[in-house]
Amino acid sequence: MDNNLLEKVVSLCKRRGFIFPGSEIYGGLRGTWDYGPLGTELKFNLKQSWWEYMVQDRENVFGMNASIMMNPKVWEASGHVASFTDPLVECKTCHERFRADKAEDIKEHEQTHAKKKEKVEWTEPKQFNILVEAKLGVVEGEKTTVFLRGEITQGVHVNFKNVLDSMRPKIPFGIAQIGKAFRNEITPRNFIFRSREFEQMEMQTYVKPNEKEAMGMFNEMKDLRMKWYLDLGIKKSKLRFREHAPDERAHYAQAAWDIEYETPWGWDEAEGIHHRGDWDLSRHSEFSGQDLSYFDSETNERFIPWVIETSGGVDRALLFFLLNAYYEEKDRLILKLHPKLAPYKAAVFPLLANKPQLIEKARRILKDLKRTGLNVAWDDRGNIGKRYYSQDEIGTPYCITVDFQTLEDDTVTVRDRDTAKQERLPIGELSKFIQKVLLLDN
Ligand code: GAP
Repeated sequence: MDNNLLEKVVSLCKRRGFIFPGSEIYGGLRGTWDYGPLGTELKFNLKQSWWEYMVQDRENVFGMNASIMMNPKVWEASGHVASFTDPLVECKTCHERFRADKAEDIKEHEQTHAKKKEKVEWTEPKQFNILVEAKLGVVEGEKTTVFLRGEITQGVHVNFKNVLDSMRPKIPFGIAQIGKAFRNEITPRNFIFRSREFEQMEMQTYVKPNEKEAMGMFNEMKDLRMKWYLDLGIKKSKLRFREHAPDERAHYAQAAWDIEYETPWGWDEAEGIHHRGDWDLSRHSEFSGQDLSYFDSETNERFIPWVIETSGGVDRALLFFLLNAYYEEKDRLILKLHPKLAPYKAAVFPLLANKPQLIEKARRILKDLKRTGLNVAWDDRGNIGKRYYSQDEIGTPYCITVDFQTLEDDTVTVRDRDTAKQERLPIGELSKFIQKVLLLDN
């Protein structure tokens, strides 16, 4: 494992406009990151790929986009006000605070003091609630405290009845959502891996309330989610499942498995698959007084469905795709991102920047490719070799060069990012050639 890999990726992200420290010119804000021009494209492609895979390519799955700020009662009902906590300890020497359950962080801090010949004494762990508060209202002193959602999940469960009434789904069915969540993390760290503002992509699948149905769906979802990471190019050896021990599970989970990725700091969580039972719907029924049951017209039964959840971090997945794609060769740095994720699908170059006929032809190709829905870059700076390297390090799968032969026979050279091999293709075949590699085999 390359110990500097994370630093190299962080540095590439800053240099090439993927991700910047949040509020950087004011000295930053801990646990926040801003996505730049290329990071925004990458994140958009990642979310789109998840949405196609989990929602549009499947049946009986519906989308939601709920508010970030919700009635505070939601978080009482969901159990987050009482139980969304992490164990916090404080170093008595320097008063820095840490999560007591993160052994690596504790060890690292003790080593820092040991270098100065100081011994660390810790306070007793106390439970620290990580919900982020905000104030709403226009009269000072009468403002309502609301929570920025700590998980995007509750926006789906509180709309369960609305989706039932409007879409009339047949059980089992799924409701999916992608969006921001906020946590007052005690120790944000490892770049975008653990931050205080991040995005989640979740699928809540409602099933009949029995173990056979629930575990069947649980296993189906585990396989499907693992396959998504693999189909988008993560190496198999870098992924594994890990079952949560009973004392490790969140307050809502009856069973929980993580998909883990082997990061430069060890195996760590990418995504959780949770058996939430009837926790959410029962609690919201109780707290809201509304009937959140489902009527099964096939069996004439009425029941509160159980929920199987897949909950992944968009930013975490994005970081793992970057770590997985980072390659250094003798004279070049390559991001071997899956073409579906790559910010640009191709770059178009005129061989020489001072030949109007070449420019005109190349601009036409660029425009025509964009019209077919491909995000394609333009570059006419420096020599062709430099342009190749510049595109390699941002993950552009193909570079298309327009030369003098193009003017005669309407063919271009297409250079492959990973092999650096070049082939000659007719202009008319370019779009199909690129579109083909964007398909996932699901
Ligand atoms: N609805 C269930 C839920 O929120 P979770 O395990 O707390 O479960 C799900 O979070 C996923 O959200 C994690 O697997 C991770 O990918 C992402 N995530 C959680 N906290 C995060 C943080 N502080 N920064 C970045 N991603 C985070």
